[in-house]
Order: sequence, then C-alpha cells, then structure tokens
Amino acid sequence: MRRSGIRDSGNALQLPAELWDSGFLRACRGESVAVTPVWLMRQAGRYMPHYREIRARSSFLNLCKEPALCAEVAIHAQQYLGVDAAIVFSDILVILEALGMPLEFSAGDGPKLPRALRSLQDVDALREAQAAVADLGYVHQAVALTVAGLPRAIPCIGFSGGPFTLASYAIEGGSSRQFAHTKAFMYGEPRAWGRLMDRLVPAIAAHLTAQIRAGASCVQIFESWAGALTRADFTEFLAPHLRAVIAGLPSGVPVISFASGASHLQDLISACGGDVLGIDTHGDLAATFAWRALHAPGSALQGNLDPCLLLAPRERLLAGAAAVLAHARGQHGFIFNLGHGVLKETAPEQARLLVEFVHQGKH
Ligand code: CP3
Repeated sequence: MRRSGIRDSGNALQLPAELWDSGFLRACRGESVAVTPVWLMRQAGRYMPHYREIRARSSFLNLCKEPALCAEVAIHAQQYLGVDAAIVFSDILVILEALGMPLEFSAGDGPKLPRALRSLQDVDALREAQAAVADLGYVHQAVALTVAGLPRAIPCIGFSGGPFTLASYAIEGGSSRQFAHTKAFMYGEPRAWGRLMDRLVPAIAAHLTAQIRAGASCVQIFESWAGALTRADFTEFLAPHLRAVIAGLPSGVPVISFASGASHLQDLISACGGDVLGIDTHGDLAATFAWRALHAPGSALQGNLDPCLLLAPRERLLAGAAAVLAHARGQHGFIFNLGHGVLKETAPEQARLLVEFVHQGKH
C-alpha cells in the first residue's frame, strides 16, 4: 500500500528545473535549502482587503466556482506576502457538495450541510466518486490559472480535506467540537462508515490527482480534526483510508498531512505515507525533530507558529518566529508555517513582516 518515497521517484512529473529546485519543493524532499521556505495556511482569506473586495461581489461558494477570481485571490496573496508557495483558492467542503450534499456558508455561522448523513441509506444515496470529481472542474481550472499566473519557480499547492474531517462535516451537518454524531456513527454503524470511506477515499484521491494534472506540484491533506481520535480509533477507523488516499496519488509529488491537536498520532499519521508532517500550534517541534531523526529520517516537517502571535506586538511576533526557527536550525526538510490558519483579525502587514523575517535568516 505504501507510496514510493518522494525521493526515489525523481522529477516524475517533469517539472521545469527552476520549480523542481525551488526551496519549497527541495525542503519537501528533505534536501538542503539556502533560505527557509515559508507559506501560511489560509494565506488568502478574509484578513486580506483585496479578498474582501472581491468577496463583496459574490457569495463564498460562487467565488469558489469562478476559477479566474480564485486564481487572482491566490496569486495576490502569494505576491503580497512574498511566500514560497501559493495554495489554490477553494474549500475542503466543495467535494461534499459534488457528492450530492447541499452546502451553505452563512455569514458568521460557518458551513451548514442541512442533509446530514445519518444512515447507510444516506451514504448509498451519495453520488459516485468519479461523477462528483468531474463536477469539480472549476477547482482544477483554478489550479491551472493559478499556475499560469505565478512566477515559474513558485509552486502551487493543491488540497483536499481528509476522510475523517470530511466525514465529520457530512455526519454533523457542519462544524463540531465533540464529534458526537460522527463517533456514534463510526462505532454504531461500522458498515455504513466503511461505505462512506469507500465513497470519500476515491473522490479525494481523484480530486487531488486532477489538481496535480492541472499543475499543482504539491498537495496538502487537511485532516484537520483527526486529533479528536484516540490512537486505537485512528488505527481502526481512519488509518487504512488515509493510507489508501495517499497510495492513490501520482509519485513525485510531495504530500503534506496536516492534523491539529494530533501530536499523539504523529507516528501513525506519518506511517500513512505522506512526505511532510504538518505540526500544529500545540505540537512540540523540538521533540518532533528528535522523533524524526530516529523514526522518520526521510520526512519533512511543517509548522508551527501560533496564528495568534500575528495579533501580538511586532517584537513578540518575531521572538515567537525566532523560537520556531531555533528548533529547526541545522535541520534539513523544514517548512515554516503557522500551526493553524491565519485568523481573520490579522493585519496583512504583520503576516508580510513574518515572511520577511523568516527569509532574512538572521535570527
Ligand atoms: O489561502 C487559503 O488557504 C484559502 C483556501 C482555503 C479556504 N478554506 C478558504 C475559505 C483553505 C485551504 C480552506 C480549508 C478549510 N476549509 C479547512 C481546513 C483548514 C483548517 O482550518 O484546518 C476547513 C475545516 C474548512 C471548512 C470551512 N470553510 C469552515 C469551517 C469555514 C467557516 C469558518 C471560517 O473560517 O470562516 C469555511 C469558509 C472559508 N473557507 C472562508 C475562506 C476564505 C471564509 C469564507 C468567507 O469569505 O466568508
């Protein structure tokens, strides 16, 4: 099941040399870099005035379905911040809409899926994975337009939600803290859970593969809420499915696995076959480097500055960034990022200052 290591497969996609040799992709492969690469999760979003202007003219979901506007938003964020990668502008939940679940984003309320899945029949009524992914052509076009508008040496990251995170939105009908419905479904209807995984896994793998074919040179799996699982439950209910998603992707493209609050699952997530392990705000980066040296020497790490530090005075922000960089000093395979997404209260200048500081390398 295990995907062949990124470092064994070489430039299988035949990327232009300056892209293949970009600091970001070198770091994903665990190679040396002159300057620490950096990007920020949710780097394009409501904290950016440019985004708010575009968003004022259409709903969030309609914006996601306008590839030219998605590309403009993603490219603007990359250029303004000076980050080493762009991420396609989209959302993890569009795949659920394509599978046949009505989806709404109402202001201040977060996402809502009014026809939440509660039974095997609900799962079986979902659309087939291939048909669903064919309807996500607008995301794949957004990738192609983003890649076309970026400088040649700047990679575009494609993304998807992971199987547990998507299942949680589908079963809860929206965001959740306890994941009570999700876990009750998982424990109480294991056959339906298996069928849901059988629907989500090929859809996620095909969606990511289509983004790669459209020009994404890296993909991130946002398995954001997997940290809610115990080690035993992760092993039983998620690991085989996350592994199957990753095994289903073309070789030569680095895969970043991100989960928040998931330090207790680090070795299990890494064993699912990704190349880069995302560390969240509460993860212990120093301990993770020590763990990596012994158990996962080929993998790269990404993280993990507290996004709230972007709201702090400049000195405090830079001291926090310097502390993250100090843990990574002398280490190969490190990508600077936040430990979770940029908050909407963030001043864009602070985010730009952070990127400049990481690039200066004089800490
Ligand atoms: O630059 C980027 O990273 C933007 C692309 C992006 C968005 N969502 C746009 C967005 C990405 C990578 C995501 C991922 C996403 N979406 C996740 C995983 C990331 C994580 O935080 O762990 C999740 C859980 C979602 C689901 C989602 N989408 C929620 C819960 C919400 C509402 C909460 C919120 O932050 O507003 C969204 C809406 C959303 N997705 C917005 C954006 C820019 C705000 C929409 C608006 O303009 O009103």
